[in-house]
Amino acid sequence: MQGAGWYNFGMQDGFGRHIDYLRISVTDRCSLRCVYCMPPEGVKLARHADMLSLEEILKVCEAAARLGINKFKITGGEPLERRGLTSFIHSLKRQSGVKTVTLTSNGAALCGFLDGLQKAGLDAVNISLDTLRPAVFRRITRSDGLENTLRAIEDVRKTPLALKINCVPLRGVNEDDIVPLAMFARHPAVTVRFIELMPLGLGAAFSPVPQDEVFARLRGAFGGLTPCGGPPGNGPASYYSAAGLAGKIGFISALSRSFCASCNRLRLTSMGLLKPCLSSDLSVDLKSALRGGGRGSVAGGGAGANAADIPADCMEKIEEAIRAAVMIKPAGHDFHAGGSRHKNKDMFRIGG
Ligand code: 5AD
Ligand code: SF4
Repeated sequence: MQGAGWYNFGMQDGFGRHIDYLRISVTDRCSLRCVYCMPPEGVKLARHADMLSLEEILKVCEAAARLGINKFKITGGEPLERRGLTSFIHSLKRQSGVKTVTLTSNGAALCGFLDGLQKAGLDAVNISLDTLRPAVFRRITRSDGLENTLRAIEDVRKTPLALKINCVPLRGVNEDDIVPLAMFARHPAVTVRFIELMPLGLGAAFSPVPQDEVFARLRGAFGGLTPCGGPPGNGPASYYSAAGLAGKIGFISALSRSFCASCNRLRLTSMGLLKPCLSSDLSVDLKSALRGGGRGSVAGGGAGANAADIPADCMEKIEEAIRAAVMIKPAGHDFHAGGSRHKNKDMFRIGG
C-alpha cells in the first residue's frame, strides 16, 4: 500500500531509461483496412474471452500506476470499436497516479464519441490521416471515409483537446499529401506528425519516405523549419515550427533517427501480452496473472473476466510481471537488420 509520505520514483530498465508510459491496444478490430496494416479481408478476430476485459485492463493500469507509469495511450486497431471505451477512460482517468490519458483514432467514428470522451477526462487525441485526396484515401484505407475523418479533425479542433494528426508517408502513394497535410498546423493547437513507416507486418511490403525527404519537401514549401520544444508528452518525436504555421510539425523516425535511447514505454496487447518493444519477440503474459494463474509467463488463456472474477491478490503478480517486462526491454530495435523477422508482427495487435 502507498503510505503517507510515499513517493513514487518509478521504474528504470536495464539501460537506465525511466519507464513511465503505457500504450494499450484495447482491440484488434478496425473499421478501416489500411494497406500497410491490415489484409483486405480483415483479420481472424480474437475471441472476446481471449482478450482482456476492460476491467482487467484497468487492473493492469492500477498496478502500472503504482510502479510510476503515469501516461496512458489508448490504441487499437481502432479503439472506439471497443464497447464501453468512454466509461473505461472515465475510470482510468480517476485512478490514483494517472496523469494523462490520450487516444489514437482513425477518426471514422470519433465525432459521435467526442462529447463523452471530453466528459470522461480524455487529455488529447491523435488522428491518423495519410492523405487529403479521396482516391488516395480509398487506395490506402480501402474505404470511403475521408469525409468522416476530416469532420473528426474539425470537431476536435473546436474542443480544448490537444490534437495531433499522424501521417505515414509511403513511397509512390502519398508523397504529394505531405505539404497539404502539414497545412493543418496553421491552427495553433494542431500538431502534424510524419511517422516513418516501420517494416512490421504488412508494412514491410511498402517503402517509407525517409525523414530527410519529408523534411526537404516541407522546407521547400514553408521556407525553413526551426527546431522547437514539442507539445506536452512529446515522446519520440522531434518538433519544428515554420513561418505561417501557428502549430507544430513533428517527425517520428524510428529508422532515420532512432529514439530508442530515450524510450520510456511498454505496450499492452489486447490479448494481454506486455511487450517491451515493437521489434522484440519477447513479452510477458499478464492474462495468467489476472486469471489466477502464475505470475506473468509466456502462456495463458481462460475466460474473459469481470471485475468480480479478478482474484483479489493478483496485484502483486501483475506488478511483478510489469517489472519483468521492463527488465527485458532491449537497448533498441533491430529494424535495420532487414530480412523478414518482423513480418508476423501486426500493428493492429500490438497497437500503433
Ligand atoms: N509503421 C509506422 N506506423 C504505422 N502505423 C500502422 N502501421 C505502421 C507501420 N508499419 C500507424 C498508423 C497510425 C498509427 C496508429 O500507427 O498509420 O497512424
Ligand atoms: Fe485501422 Fe489504423 Fe490499421 Fe488503418 S492503420 S487499418 S486505421 S488500425
